[in-house]
Amino acid sequence: GVSSLVRVTPSMLKFMNGRKDKETGKIKDAWSVYQGKVYNISPYLPYHPGGEGELRRAAGKDGTKLFMEVHPWVNWENMLGECMVGIFVSEEQPPA
Ligand code: HEM
Repeated sequence: GVSSLVRVTPSMLKFMNGRKDKETGKIKDAWSVYQGKVYNISPYLPYHPGGEGELRRAAGKDGTKLFMEVHPWVNWENMLGECMVGIFVSEEQPPA
């Protein structure tokens, strides 16, 4: 539900993006923003028809523009529903 959604700031987005898995040493998290929503795109990386590299170009960033340039017809909300982690907010967010 909405109450479990994290408020993600630009610095959190960057921080989450570089984290490595303790056991494998591989970068595990890739978070991107699409239209104000933050997604952990990691599980989808191997399945992206345009390749992992293309999807990673939006890692740690707002990918909306890149996404819309390439395939505005793709319904990412349906595809990534499970991967949504929160909403994107500005750095200084007063308490709700
Ligand atoms: C293709 C999903 C982000 C670049 C596709 C296709 C899907 C998809 C379903 C096949 C579309 C079709 O054939 O009509 C997604 C999702 C994204 C995402 C869910 C976000 C989470 C991106 C980003 C880029 C990108 C950020 C570019 C930086 C491409 C390219 C193709 C493609 C170049 C075409 C591959 C080809 O036809 O050879 N993507 N995409 N995608 N995607 Fe993405």
